Amino acid sequence: MSGSTAESAEPAAAGAPVPSEPVAELSNITRMYRMGEEEVHALDGFSFTFRKGEYWAIMGSSGSGKSTLLNILGCVDRPTGGSYRVRGQEVADLDDDELSTFRGAELGFIFQSYNLIPQLDVLENILMPVMYQDEVPEGIEDRALELAKRVGLGERLHHRPMQLSGGQQQRVAIARSLINDPALILADEATGNLDSKTADEILELFDELHAEGKTILLVTHEAEVGRRAENVLRLKDGNIDSVERGVSRDGEATDAK
Ligand SMILES: Nc1ncnc2c1ncn2[C@@H]1O[C@H](COP(=O)(O)OP(=O)(O)O)[C@@H](O)[C@H]1O
Ligand SMILES: [Mg+2]
Repeated sequence: MSGSTAESAEPAAAGAPVPSEPVAELSNITRMYRMGEEEVHALDGFSFTFRKGEYWAIMGSSGSGKSTLLNILGCVDRPTGGSYRVRGQEVADLDDDELSTFRGAELGFIFQSYNLIPQLDVLENILMPVMYQDEVPEGIEDRALELAKRVGLGERLHHRPMQLSGGQQQRVAIARSLINDPALILADEATGNLDSKTADEILELFDELHAEGKTILLVTHEAEVGRRAENVLRLKDGNIDSVERGVSRDGEATDAK
């Protein structure tokens, strides 16, 4: 037990914008692996709060802890220490069944390799996260249809993944990530398998989602992708190396050329 942190005592600088509500709160997160005699600290006391509507690129060199962080954020791995809360829910308090329900309801995933189910068509893939819920929400099929149109696949509803281009498959994955209106959208090298023009179209979709107020965390090692996000969190040795806010393309960027 490490005592309470003064989390409510944020300095309210005069004239500063009121921060939006916290979506993902990580406090002193550790992820330790034991390798024989040795302990590897993939995350080493990581504390950070991601807030509603923020768009973050998570960057850092290989081995810095990006995948470990994303796995913990996505509740596919549990930290060995610390607290992780999503919309106020302490993840450590959920058992494995509760956690998978929670994951389906609160988190949207977009992967480098799309991870669509080959036997299912576009609409069915978009509906996949609903399958993990106890109740099928009313009107969910209409919502899937709407999302398919939203990502430009209104004419491809009954295509299987194999019958789609990489960019189209990633659009399905994006629609799938939105079906439950998750608290957080987590993307792992989402454009890593795409040519630059297609990657740009996908990044434009992220820009639109950001403009709509979605909360997006995107792991990338590509500087180009990082530049598109509003904020950049850089990791080093399992902790924060730097935090750059407001590095958007259109704003007064801090990434001076
Ligand atoms: N399953 C594991 N067992 C042992 N060490 C691991 C494991 N996964 C990751 N690590 C170590 O933790 C550190 C962070 O890894 P990772 O999160 O994959 O970094 P990144 O995604 O930034 O390349 C690295 O030193 C890596 O070797
Ligand atoms: Mg990695």
